[in-house]
Amino acid sequence: NTETDDFVIDDILIENIFRPRSEFSHKGTYGKATIAGGSYGKIGAAVLSTRSALKTGAGLTFTLAPQCGYEILQTSCPEAMFIEGGEKYIDNFDIEKDSVAGIGPGLGTDPRTKKAFLSFLKNYSKPLILDADALNIISENKGNLKLIPERSIITPHPKEFERLFGTSENSFARLELTRNKAKAFQIYIVLKDHHTQVVTPEGKIFYNITGNSGLAKGGSGDILTGIITSLAAQQYSEEHAAVLGIWLHGKAADLAAGKHSKESMLPTDVINELGNVFRLFE
Ligand code: APR
Ligand code: MG
Repeated sequence: NTETDDFVIDDILIENIFRPRSEFSHKGTYGKATIAGGSYGKIGAAVLSTRSALKTGAGLTFTLAPQCGYEILQTSCPEAMFIEGGEKYIDNFDIEKDSVAGIGPGLGTDPRTKKAFLSFLKNYSKPLILDADALNIISENKGNLKLIPERSIITPHPKEFERLFGTSENSFARLELTRNKAKAFQIYIVLKDHHTQVVTPEGKIFYNITGNSGLAKGGSGDILTGIITSLAAQQYSEEHAAVLGIWLHGKAADLAAGKHSKESMLPTDVINELGNVFRLFE
């Protein structure tokens, strides 16, 4: 718990984490990502998350979503493969083998989804990226927290964080609580806010300084889930996937604000700027 365990995510740190693609590579080099999410009326969240995973460079991207999202996803994300996980709500988490899974965007909290998700967690031990309704389902019973596989990355916004771990007096107390929980459950916690923080199981804290209030719109979080899942699929370590992921997300948002304004920029514009962020490394 010393100051040396706290880092600001600056350009030098990012240049050290980022790995350029090798010309002598193929799709197998860049791993498989699965986005599991979407429910009747919230297929858009799965679309945004899937498109972000694709645009972040995963070799193969799968979307596990309910049947009602089939045409929407195949049309808006033709590069991704569809896995049917239910009719209107996911009730079967049939995650593609050998893939890294990001679960939660638009998932909903239908009783069938809850039951299927919790039984999936009981039998799954690889690190996951967990967001949104995946976290809301977990937070319904404190005993569920220990079902989260070790080294998983969770990406709660402040309300989701409170539902999981309770309230804090102020932001310092919340950060200390985050550090304790990251250690206790051996997970990476991405505390989403104006300055998003990544807290590691070892107690390291990374502060992000990219991003802007144009992100304060529904769908922005879904993008982050897709980015981090894609990086983890490409075998970035959990720490690097979380740190590089929040930096890329904020940087793309800053480019989108420059072109469209903070008011008008949409999460889709943020996804479309990811390419220009990667070009900064060239
Ligand atoms: N400055 C910088 N970044 C911001 C700001 C801001 N003022 N406001 C929001 N962001 C960033 C956050 O850091 C985070 O990365 O935008 C993202 C918002 O994520 P979420 O709060 O998860 O928002 P959202 O995309 O709407 O989530 C979709 O999932 O969490 C559920 O119920 C929620 O319906 C919602 C859905
Ligand atoms: Mg969210």
